[in-house]
Amino acid sequence: MYELGEQGPDTRRIIELSGYRTPRMVTYKAKMVERIHLPDRPAREQALEDAGYNVFNLDAADVFIDLLTDSGTGTMSQDQWAALIRGDESYAGASSFSRLEAAVSDVMGFAHVIPAHQGRGAENVLYGTLLEDGDVALNNTHFDTTRAHVANQGAEPVDCPIPRAEDPAAPGDFKGDFSLERGREVVDEVGAERIPVVIQTITNNSVAGQPVSIENTREVAAFADEIGATFVIDACRFAENAYFVTQREAAYQDQDVATVAREHLELADAVVMSGKKDGLSNVGGFVATDDATLADRCKQRAILYEGFPTYGGMAGRDMEALAVGLREAVEPGYVEDRIEQVQTLAALLEARDVPVYTPTGGHAVYLDAGAYFPHLPSSAFPGQVLVCELYREGGVRGVELGSFAFPDTDRPELVRLAIPRRTYHREHFEHVADTAAAVLERASGVTGLEIQTEPEVAELRHFTAELEPVSG
Ligand code: F0G
Repeated sequence: MYELGEQGPDTRRIIELSGYRTPRMVTYKAKMVERIHLPDRPAREQALEDAGYNVFNLDAADVFIDLLTDSGTGTMSQDQWAALIRGDESYAGASSFSRLEAAVSDVMGFAHVIPAHQGRGAENVLYGTLLEDGDVALNNTHFDTTRAHVANQGAEPVDCPIPRAEDPAAPGDFKGDFSLERGREVVDEVGAERIPVVIQTITNNSVAGQPVSIENTREVAAFADEIGATFVIDACRFAENAYFVTQREAAYQDQDVATVAREHLELADAVVMSGKKDGLSNVGGFVATDDATLADRCKQRAILYEGFPTYGGMAGRDMEALAVGLREAVEPGYVEDRIEQVQTLAALLEARDVPVYTPTGGHAVYLDAGAYFPHLPSSAFPGQVLVCELYREGGVRGVELGSFAFPDTDRPELVRLAIPRRTYHREHFEHVADTAAAVLERASGVTGLEIQTEPEVAELRHFTAELEPVSG
């Protein structure tokens, strides 16, 4: 047996033999709890029907294990809750803003901070400042709100993932990387002068939460410099990415997460951040940069859309919680616990032969709905079918990221099970894995779905559209 907190040298072998990862001792305990409830099967069937087979329409109280997102849904620490109390709600010059500025400077290494109500608010501020009609933005992969904000400026969002990124079975330590080859192709096609922005999203949420190497980011930064573009890092999950770098990138193996995170982020001209992810908070976001001119331009737009630049859509107390959360995200222990949880869920699923995207990324396990339901064409939305069956079977809520969420693309039919930070336990993950396995067992008898009503904007249809089982 190993000492508490220690990972034995042959942990991998134990996983292979048992299908279970040896749990490492977590570095926190609970002191406030929230009851959860599993409605009985007829109630779940009814809730699903009432929701139009779209789990965004469910009452959260009817969800037993909620893996819809890791955004703003985690558990705050006692230090974050304590900091809330000293929130300075002054309109201008709040001391809470100064504490947020200091945290961003210490943890991320940037001098200027423009706060926003959440990540997409920060995207509006930054991309609204940098992009104009007819421009092109390059990104390893645009997250959906990023894509929408780029498009909202009249610019064209172009993804540059590496070729094997969308293959759920391909090996690779950094499948989230940016393809320089693709980037250069686009430069040849449209001309460098039309590309004012190059973005690296770490981890790459739209590619199964896969990490990005610092080596790749360094090359992308040089490429952006070469074409005269502003280089932006979408830093939502910067701490998770830093942990993978310490595990997988040879040059960084002896370094701590805090040092690696800072070294990575400092490659950017600006970062755009959602505090709801690695800020360990329920709300908030910001743009940060060392470029005083860019900061001033962002502030002008922020006043219009977010608020005065010393609160920008956040209450003073929210800035306090975010300031503490950013520091906790790079503390020793925190992010190891976090990634260990994700890997535990993946191991439990794999032990039950549930098809998952490999290797497992940072914030979620992605199920391969195409492999679940080979008899369902993409027009019958296999991913959305799986989402509905997980709820029907075990009250588990995930989210579809396939042909329902991304119309007219040939992306793989993935379902994301995102893990809120510091919230669920191993027993919950066992329930999720048992649920996924039970659906797999009866997968061949499951029928498809068709859309009944949908909103005008096709890119946003998965949030509100209603569906119905295909008859026969
Ligand atoms: N960028 C990335 C990479 C994200 O994952 C998100 C949000 C945003 C920007 C926008 O941030 O939600 O604070 O406005 N992702 C959430 C998710 C919603 O479920 O993955 P936000």
